[in-house]
Amino acid sequence: MDKCIKSGDMSRDDIVYLLNLDNDSDVARLLKAGDEVRKANCGDAVQIRALIEFSNICARQCNYCGLRSPNSKVTRYRMPPDEIVELAVYLNGKGLKTVVMQSGEDPYYTGEIIADIVRRIKASTDTAITLCVGERPYEDYKLWKEAGADRYLLRHEAANRDLFKHLHPDCDFDNRIRCLHWLRELGYQVGAGCMVGSPGQTIEHLADDIEFLRDFQPDMAGIGPFIPHPDTPYANESTGMVQMTLKMVALARIVTRDALLPATTAIGSIEEMGREMALEAGADVVMPNYTPLKYRENYEIYPNKRCITEDPEQCHSCMRLRIQAIGRTVSTDQGHSRKSFQAAL
Ligand code: 5AD
Ligand code: FES
Repeated sequence: MDKCIKSGDMSRDDIVYLLNLDNDSDVARLLKAGDEVRKANCGDAVQIRALIEFSNICARQCNYCGLRSPNSKVTRYRMPPDEIVELAVYLNGKGLKTVVMQSGEDPYYTGEIIADIVRRIKASTDTAITLCVGERPYEDYKLWKEAGADRYLLRHEAANRDLFKHLHPDCDFDNRIRCLHWLRELGYQVGAGCMVGSPGQTIEHLADDIEFLRDFQPDMAGIGPFIPHPDTPYANESTGMVQMTLKMVALARIVTRDALLPATTAIGSIEEMGREMALEAGADVVMPNYTPLKYRENYEIYPNKRCITEDPEQCHSCMRLRIQAIGRTVSTDQGHSRKSFQAAL
């Protein structure tokens, strides 16, 4: 274990072996290794990204997601562009210099509408903008990059083609991967990632995900447990395991070295100290929710989501205290990717 952890150069056999560890002291060693690789490559500062969930309308039918289009129980909303811009500007004034604008795959926000939002935020702030709005045509991605967007999150969700199809009956695996390559080509800092414990997922599938992260070397990777949503086809499936999620975070850290790895809201939602545990297994980012309260409870991708009723101010100070309580510091910069090839782009 020590040799491949030092270099990050892991074979598939190494990955499968480490994913299969279940003895407590071996697992603790793996998580500690993730933490050490994080410390050596990323330092102690935790990046804070403000999440704005600006529309819960989605054209897709992902089997796990509460926002899937056939779910008629959701009260759907769209934030008007002016409100999104005002919120991003307000947050910048509070020192939050990075926002993640996330939505379902909502065709209302055309390429031009999103480009305009990005331009307006960029014109009056030094905020780094991350978009997370799903699969779109190359032209849209290009337009948004030219408008000033810095980053794009598009979890690969499952690097195994069959599992991907199982989870996303109306999505195309090849297109997903193509989008990730386009985004990189266009100069975005690119985020990938997956769920742990989704229905039908095996250790071999998880090994595919780690191999994908090792080979693609995303700038970011979000890894969280699957949580069953009652109004989806996966209502009766079981929740992903905290320990397996932590092993995945540690392995993602070891193979990507300096990528940005969020301690996800999902792990914090199934385990009170889940985010802290992830921060101590290799993660270095948290994404507090700044969606206005009147919309927030309707962005229910999974149930019992953390911080659903907390006032953002309260969440912010809670998050700071939690970070400091585990001996880490809070970053005040824009938290750009550390991947060296970015410098050459
Ligand atoms: N449980 C856990 N994670 C989920 N996501 C969507 N639905 C669920 C769920 N039920 C994740 C997906 C998506 C991200 C925004 O949230 O991986 O990319
Ligand atoms: Fe939101 Fe603690 S981080 S209440």
